[in-house]
Amino acid sequence: MSKELIRLEGISKAYDGEVVLDNINLYINDSEFLTLLGPSGCGKTTTLQIIGGFVKPTAGTVLFDGVRINDVPPHKRQVNTVFQRYALFPHLDVYDNIAFGLRIAKLGEDEIARRVGEMLEVVDSAVSIWIPRLSTK
Ligand SMILES: Nc1ncnc2c1ncn2[C@@H]1O[C@H](COP(=O)(O)OP(=O)(O)O)[C@@H](O)[C@H]1O
Ligand SMILES: [Mg+2]
Repeated sequence: MSKELIRLEGISKAYDGEVVLDNINLYINDSEFLTLLGPSGCGKTTTLQIIGGFVKPTAGTVLFDGVRINDVPPHKRQVNTVFQRYALFPHLDVYDNIAFGLRIAKLGEDEIARRVGEMLEVVDSAVSIWIPRLSTK
């Protein structure tokens, strides 16, 4: 069985005194696929934002691999979020947006170029985006 990776202990969140999460206890195992299901406004996004570090809980502890990460900023957490709406970095071009995660994973630039090209081919944009980019390097 895979081991526990994320744990929420006694997590509560209130906005302006209004409680939206009330003492949540949840653990998620490594490689587990988990769905949060509930009506609009029940606190699904707030829970994910607390795990990602974008929202601070009013009470409770967030643990990652047994370590308390309440005070760790989002970009230093080993947690990633795929947003409901597109979240492209406006200061980066198409190539660098696709390359972003690969750079975090510290892949070499040659490997990044290969993979970015591969993805652009998948979405059939290789001609319009890939070639101009190559010509500027
Ligand atoms: N930044 C915020 N300020 C005030 N209230 C918020 C904020 N974000 C969410 N809420 C409220 O918290 C509750 C839970 O919202 P949310 O986590 O977005 O629910 P869900 O994702 O399940 O639809 C809702 O009542 C929502 O209006
Ligand atoms: Mg939501």
